[in-house]
Amino acid sequence: TIHDVAVFVGSLRKDSINRKVANAFSEVAPPSLRLRIVEIGNLPIYNQDGDSSPPESWVKLRQDIKAAHAVLFVTPEHNRSVPAALKNALDIASRPYGQNVWSGKPGAVVSASPGAIGGFGANHHLRQSLVFLNVPVMQQPEAYLGGADKLFDANGKIANDGTRQFLAKFAEAFADWIRTIAKA
Ligand code: FNR
Repeated sequence: TIHDVAVFVGSLRKDSINRKVANAFSEVAPPSLRLRIVEIGNLPIYNQDGDSSPPESWVKLRQDIKAAHAVLFVTPEHNRSVPAALKNALDIASRPYGQNVWSGKPGAVVSASPGAIGGFGANHHLRQSLVFLNVPVMQQPEAYLGGADKLFDANGKIANDGTRQFLAKFAEAFADWIRTIAKA
């Protein structure tokens, strides 16, 4: 069985390390995972007033999540928390009340930073929201990629075997996790 994974990148910048990590997953993931980045950079900030006639981009986001079997978050840390753009996407797809499309989708979280802590704060703040959104998040392995500016070469490809193997193992574990939740 192929499982479609909607991938959310918490950084909007062109040369984002986290986007490189997300792209790298497509190279190392097992064939059972079909990964696709869902863009979140142009979503109007969530406002409950929009629930009655939502912007097209909100509707599209909710559809993209509904259509996926699983969700993968690859995010930097902004001031020890989740970047606003990613939190906005979480909020949009959690509403209108009672129509949270995240619910039940198996998920995984990866954080990456040039710093030594590897985005731990963002990783766990994100997990806090995902508990409420009823996303069963893979617990192990964890992925806090520190010194992440050094992990990619000039072409944006993974620069060392250790990182490639780590990401491949993470993706394999996530594929298992998706199968486990799908059977439950
Ligand atoms: C950062 N950065 C950062 N890094 C970190 O490890 N912990 C933090 O709390 C923060 N806070 C923070 C706030 C804001 C507003 C910005 C713009 C940046 C640095 C961040 O890790 C760095 O810019 C990464 O390169 C961002 O990830 P991308 O864009 O490369 O994926």
